[in-house]
Amino acid sequence: MAAKHQHWRMGGVTEEQVEDYLYSVLPSRDPVLDEMEAEAAQRDIPIVGPAVGRLFQQLAMISGAKTIFEMGSAIGYSTIWWGLGVGHGGRVYYTDSDRKNCDKARRYTERAGVAARVTFKLGDALELLSEEKQLFDIIFNDVDKDDYPRVFRLAVPRLKKGGLLVTDNVLWSGQVAKKNPRDSNTKAIVEFNRLLYGSPDLFTTIIPLRDGVAISVKR
Ligand SMILES: C[S@@+](CC[C@H](N)C(=O)[O-])C[C@H]1O[C@@H](n2cnc3c(N)ncnc32)[C@H](O)[C@@H]1O
Repeated sequence: MAAKHQHWRMGGVTEEQVEDYLYSVLPSRDPVLDEMEAEAAQRDIPIVGPAVGRLFQQLAMISGAKTIFEMGSAIGYSTIWWGLGVGHGGRVYYTDSDRKNCDKARRYTERAGVAARVTFKLGDALELLSEEKQLFDIIFNDVDKDDYPRVFRLAVPRLKKGGLLVTDNVLWSGQVAKKNPRDSNTKAIVEFNRLLYGSPDLFTTIIPLRDGVAISVKR
């Protein structure tokens, strides 16, 4: 696929040629994921893309995760990767505030063969997580960036010991490296990253893949 159709790419983090290479070596994937990538490009939907999607599947496989709470799922692209990672008997909670996204995600997850592993929840992801009584193996954070510090406070207590808090866009096209960022999204992400690394309850690494993925394990 030509780089201009690879809508998930962000720029500003990895050198372009290296990024080209990272996408060129990926094996082919389920045609449903290809179709979703094309829809995301057409409708300007910010999905994580196949390199990060693959990382998610791998994280679930490595950790043996069986319960995943996803915050901000859009049309269900990342949901499918998590669904592949948890395998049979696993459960992924989809959340999004947009009903049309939710309807689309139901159809796509069915076609990708993972719908039976997904519980669909429509509404504010932070409220929906607060309503959950159980602890999770993985919480994936991809909501509006202004809310990231609030997600930190809410999500860490909802993880099992050894569970993962996984967060997308933590390098925000490199904006986090600016001296005095003024926009609220960058400021919120910088604060969030500070909270992650400063927390005695977490052990965090930022992977500079695509737009930056933070992986934090709960001690
Ligand atoms: C970046 S997109 C998610 C992309 C998806 N994780 C993927 O990679 O396929 C963010 C989505 O989160 C939703 N969203 C943002 N803030 C939210 C919130 N507080 N509660 C629920 N949904 C939210 C938006 O409607 C949007 O569809």
